[in-house]
Amino acid sequence: MIDEVLPGRVACVESFGDVPGAVLLGEEAALVANAVDRRRAEFATGRHCARAALARLGFPPAPVLADERGAPVWPSGVVGSITHCAGYRAAAVSVDVLSVGIDAEPCRPLPDGVLEAISLPREREMLARLGDAQPWDRLLFSAKESVYKAWYPLARRLLGFEDALVDIDAGGTFSARLLVPGPRVGDVELRAFAGRWLAVGGLLVTGVTVS
Ligand SMILES: CC(C)(COP(=O)(O)OP(=O)(O)OC[C@H]1O[C@@H](n2cnc3c(N)ncnc32)[C@H](O)[C@@H]1OP(=O)(O)O)[C@@H](O)C(=O)NCCC(=O)NCCS
Repeated sequence: MIDEVLPGRVACVESFGDVPGAVLLGEEAALVANAVDRRRAEFATGRHCARAALARLGFPPAPVLADERGAPVWPSGVVGSITHCAGYRAAAVSVDVLSVGIDAEPCRPLPDGVLEAISLPREREMLARLGDAQPWDRLLFSAKESVYKAWYPLARRLLGFEDALVDIDAGGTFSARLLVPGPRVGDVELRAFAGRWLAVGGLLVTGVTVS
């Protein structure tokens, strides 16, 4: 499913549930030492998916640790992203793009009150125009999460929900225009992100790639 929202030069592996016996390597176990069982299982399956995706690029099994904000630390030269939600885990990695962000959500409306906290007035107007074919509020949230996961490794700072204006196309794509200064990529300031989305089987996934 996740491969349908990412270009072919991104290797991805997904699982529709936790992988029994998924192992943690090296210091990974310390990252979830105090977590509840459910979190340890999703974390281990995320790492399992990450290693399987890295193997497709030729990388041997190795710990994927986390930085001070929780972002995965990939082998040198690799960019990637991990997501999990009820019934779904996935990882995406690449050596051919500058950044990637993925997010999965249950395909149902956000709980009351969340939309107001994560959206701009113009985004809520856009959602109203889209009608009710999908839980567009959840898709907006997922798009923003994917944007953040692609943004963070380039910018190394937080991006607020009000800092990017997302525009969803009902045909399966979205864009995000930054309302704050963007990270520099070479000589160019990154001003916008482009992504794709897919809703199927009660799940909704989004993917953002920076090339
Ligand atoms: C970090 C965050 C994006 C995670 O998203 P989520 O929907 O809650 O959870 P997901 O399961 O999809 O993703 C969790 C994974 O994100 C990854 N992640 C965590 N922090 C990250 C960061 N700063 N950058 C990139 N990836 C990150 C991790 O791999 C984590 O899984 P792991 O701990 O098992 O390795 C979210 O909790 C958050 O902090 N959002 C606020 C910032 C934001 O979204 N701004 C919107 C800008 S428009």
